[in-house]
Amino acid sequence: MNSFIPYGRHHVDEVDIRAVVEVLQGGLLTQGPMIEAFEQAISDYVGVKYAVAVSSGTAALHLAALAADVGKGNSLVTSPITFVASANCGLYAGGTVQFADIDADSINMSAIGLAQTLREIPTVRAVVPVHFAGLPCDIPAIKAAADAAAAVVIEDASHALGSEYADGSKVGCCVNSLMTVFSFHPVKAIAAGEGGMVTTNDEKIYRRLIRLRSHGINKLDDEFQLPEQASSNGLQYPWYYEMQELGFNYRITDIQCALALSQLRHLDKFIARRRELVAVYDAAFAGMKNCRPAQLDGNALSAHHLYVLRIDFKSAGIGREQLMLQLRSRNIGNQVHYIPVTMQPYYQRLGFNPGDYPEAQAYYNEALTIPLFYDLSDEQQQYVIDNIRDLVS
Ligand SMILES: Cc1ncc(COP(=O)(O)O)c(C=O)c1O
Repeated sequence: MNSFIPYGRHHVDEVDIRAVVEVLQGGLLTQGPMIEAFEQAISDYVGVKYAVAVSSGTAALHLAALAADVGKGNSLVTSPITFVASANCGLYAGGTVQFADIDADSINMSAIGLAQTLREIPTVRAVVPVHFAGLPCDIPAIKAAADAAAAVVIEDASHALGSEYADGSKVGCCVNSLMTVFSFHPVKAIAAGEGGMVTTNDEKIYRRLIRLRSHGINKLDDEFQLPEQASSNGLQYPWYYEMQELGFNYRITDIQCALALSQLRHLDKFIARRRELVAVYDAAFAGMKNCRPAQLDGNALSAHHLYVLRIDFKSAGIGREQLMLQLRSRNIGNQVHYIPVTMQPYYQRLGFNPGDYPEAQAYYNEALTIPLFYDLSDEQQQYVIDNIRDLVS
């Protein structure tokens, strides 16, 4: 294979490019009509009342944690197998962070692990399950555990736009959660360049997210907190605005939303191709001795953001570093998703012991992500399979 095959890649076509050029040729580069159009399109797609677009998935998690009142004196629980942003948002909001171990079959937060963490930590305000690689978590069970501890659920669906729950509803509909967060980074289901979204059915939360996205300044028809400053003789000053709490500039641009909106039109096609590719990988690796798909159950519900193998490197006759380098020398991209957050030096300094999360640790020792993206050809996929079979006994 002459050209390098990355582990993930966006697909942008002429229609997407035209959509962005139209914004560049129009009057508004940011805070224009594309933002609301994209928010409405996501609301319609996932079946939720409100959607708030922001500058990244990380910004979305930060605002969600603040809107859930994570802060001093309480904490947020997430999975150790995620990108660091799912945990960091609790710290940004001023709270502490805790972890619940994963379930070995789904690589998602285990509801049993969560219940144990909630028993040990009585101050949990928010639970952030991550739909790892697009496979939906057992949200009803997680919600039940969170409810029993008076905590709210914020789903990190950065990998899961287009994924479905067992009842056919879409991840992001927030039937069993207060909020759901998405990312539109280029390796995700649809690309905005950078971008994120929070969805919710709660009007108060929605209004707060809108304010926090833009410096904490009143938006929509928020009531003024100092009405005597806002008007005289019943006439409202046309220049008047209020900063009502400490917010941020987490706005997204019209340029990004035009791209994301155009990409959304391709989403079902993107997912259908990913499902085809996953079925071929699953069949190819099912019979191998030391190598197996990390997630199998519930595959039909996943948007398949990543394809992860679990390899028993001790028996496979090759170390992970050698395998990764050999694959790269053969033009096959690969990665590890993820180093447990509890192993990061910053979290080590906070006192976490990775050994307290044995399933996450066992998974990490075996994980390898291999190429999966819309434009991966059948021929390229076969080349990936042949090379893994060649290198892993
Ligand atoms: C699970 C998860 N959460 C949050 C994020 C953060 O998203 P963003 O890169 O858009 O800030 C990512 C991005 O990689 C992610 O994978």
